[in-house]
Amino acid sequence: MTSSDHYDAIVLGAGAAGLMCAAIAGQRGQRVLILDHGPNPGRKILISGGGRCNFTNIQCAPDRFISANPHFAKSALSRYSAQDFLDLVESYHIAWHEKTLGQLFCDESARQIVDMLLEECAKGAVEIECNVTLGDTTHSDGHYSCTLADRTVRAPTCVVATGGPSIPKIGGSTFAYELARKFGLKIVQPRPALVPLTLGADEALFRELSGVSADVVTISGKTRFREAALFTHRGLSGPAILQISSYWQNGENIAVNFLPDHPTGFLSDAKREKPQQSIGRVLSGELPDRLSTALLTKLGLDGEIGSLTDKRLNAAEERLKSWTFTPSGSEGFAKAEVTVGGVSTKELSSKTMEARSMPGLYVIGEAVDVTGWLGGYNFQWAWASAVAAGEAI
Ligand code: FDA
Repeated sequence: MTSSDHYDAIVLGAGAAGLMCAAIAGQRGQRVLILDHGPNPGRKILISGGGRCNFTNIQCAPDRFISANPHFAKSALSRYSAQDFLDLVESYHIAWHEKTLGQLFCDESARQIVDMLLEECAKGAVEIECNVTLGDTTHSDGHYSCTLADRTVRAPTCVVATGGPSIPKIGGSTFAYELARKFGLKIVQPRPALVPLTLGADEALFRELSGVSADVVTISGKTRFREAALFTHRGLSGPAILQISSYWQNGENIAVNFLPDHPTGFLSDAKREKPQQSIGRVLSGELPDRLSTALLTKLGLDGEIGSLTDKRLNAAEERLKSWTFTPSGSEGFAKAEVTVGGVSTKELSSKTMEARSMPGLYVIGEAVDVTGWLGGYNFQWAWASAVAAGEAI
């Protein structure tokens, strides 16, 4: 091994967290090498936010993250805020806008965020190697050694920033979990999140609504999201469904409120106002036609609203406000934007992201059991956890 193969820190993964962490450490004078198996850095950033990268959320708060330990993310998130990342974006004159619910996007292209991070890495003289096949990673004499095809690289610090298994087609892998397990760290069972849910054959009527969307509230336990839901040929999607999918577990129900703005007694009031009006007409004034027809078919309701008893109308309203679906599954890691679960936060310092039992080993970004809501939260966690580690190494 030559001295050129010896670094202060090796960062595994040139994604959002890896690039940010390496840039911070490099600018602090560390000699940093990033290794990635993909053809180029920041591939998920490039496709994020429909190509415009929803790079943070100005309403970021710790209660918008899912983790076995809901307190873990607080420290890093408070020390590197959405405003901090926005300041960086603005220092590069990248034009941005708030789309909705605090979500900040580039006006032009996600490529600008990748270029900004690469420029930050260049300022810290960070070396980046892509198309690398990572062989064995070992630890001895206070150093981590990574075997590559043509050589072995070594450093006292190894940062695991290889994300989760979501979207393997663009580099997602379970590498972080395998490495963590090898070094004795526990993993919280990973599952796909921010993912479309599928409906079984018994829900064929809803699957026929493919393309119909409605403004709804989705509910799982005490968690609720008010956004659009979209019916697809496989089941349910759209932001309200993606959000609730992160809280959903196989076999559980989710509930959908199709009438979130309607006061209790809305249908019986409509009956008193215009008894001759058909129930179909009443509902299609509130929901897309095809959806209201499907819901009424399921409810077995038809004809003039005046011919229906208040009891039936109230029961129908109750179901419309809490329609239960039992998804048959989800579209899996192939379609999931992120992964819930990952390297257990019990194993890591919330201040530095260093493994408690393995000095010099850090885990950041999506690889950690911290998962944000849809809307820029996952990048904010990537930046914040990366800065926490980058300042510590
Ligand atoms: P990330 O996945 O970014 O990077 C991991 C890197 O490690 C990759 O470059 C990968 O190639 C590399 N790697 C993996 N395995 C390896 C191995 N075995 N050897 C070497 N390298 C390896 N979030 C958000 O806040 N706003 C948004 O707009 C979006 N939009 C969005 C769209 C889509 C389609 C997806 C799939 C995801 C999003 N996200 C998002 C989520 C966001 O992309 C995600 O949370 C972050 O990219 C996580 O950053 P990391 O750096 O942890 O992992």
